[in-house]
Amino acid sequence: MSYRPFFGLAREPFSADLRLDEIMQTEDIKGVCQRLEYVIRIGAIGLVTGEVGAGKSTALRWATGQLHSSSHKVLWITATSGSILEVYRQLLAELDINTAASSRAVLTRMIRQQIINLAVNKKQQPLLIIDEASLLRLDVYTELHTLTQFQGDSKPWLPMILAGQNNLADNLLCRTAVPLASRIVARSHLKAVTREGMEQYIQHHLRVAGLKTSPFEGQAVTAIHQGSGGLFRKANHLARGALIAAAAEKSQTVTAEHVRLADSELL
Ligand SMILES: Nc1ncnc2c1ncn2[C@@H]1O[C@H](COP(=O)(O)OP(=O)(O)OP(=O)(O)O)[C@@H](O)[C@H]1O
Ligand SMILES: [Mg+2]
Repeated sequence: MSYRPFFGLAREPFSADLRLDEIMQTEDIKGVCQRLEYVIRIGAIGLVTGEVGAGKSTALRWATGQLHSSSHKVLWITATSGSILEVYRQLLAELDINTAASSRAVLTRMIRQQIINLAVNKKQQPLLIIDEASLLRLDVYTELHTLTQFQGDSKPWLPMILAGQNNLADNLLCRTAVPLASRIVARSHLKAVTREGMEQYIQHHLRVAGLKTSPFEGQAVTAIHQGSGGLFRKANHLARGALIAAAAEKSQTVTAEHVRLADSELL
């Protein structure tokens, strides 16, 4: 028997595919939201750092989801290890501009015109999110801040959030990144959650999947907390895998042993 009907789960549990209103509003997420609003208000740069799977992209999705789409335009790009031209092309695509141009000067002019058009003419505040920014090359950090400068750096038309793993902060300490780093005014660091936070997280996802009571024993929760290091993506895999292992044994309770079985499947 498949594990979902066995536990009475209405949908795949511990999913990455959450609607905005299904995202758990942790203190960390609220902190990201406040900093994002501050960064927009003063037209500066913000950082969101954290380990792999700590919830950075989800936090930003929730925080940007709180902005009114009539008054804000979120430009979301996922960084690559390519050159700054790659960033410009991604940004133009987000601005719905098609171009075959390849000169930096032409591309940046097109970006700037469209940003001014949005911010000044359409009264729609742009916000640039660069997710996975820890992948950006050092020479890209050197040039990136020029995108945020309008009228001699006096107009806050393109606030920016950089999100990435912890080494993002180290990369920004590099000398050539100083102009970019000096514009950073807020930083959220998403920490691993505590044992109690993990319990709430598991309960939350079970509720989203339609379960009111948790089949996880206390020790199973502890095993998920330890096995995941308090990080959400790994916790998802452990919790889902443990449900599958328990169902295979026709056990309605999920034990620490089921979590260990699930863990043996993961890298
Ligand atoms: N606040 C939350 N509420 C519910 N689920 C969450 C929350 N934050 C994270 N998750 C879950 O954890 C998973 C991983 O989160 P996310 O992709 O945001 O991490 P990340 O820090 O961006 O990881 P990476 O470093 O790989 O980019 C999500 O797919 C989601 O299932
Ligand atoms: Mg992410």
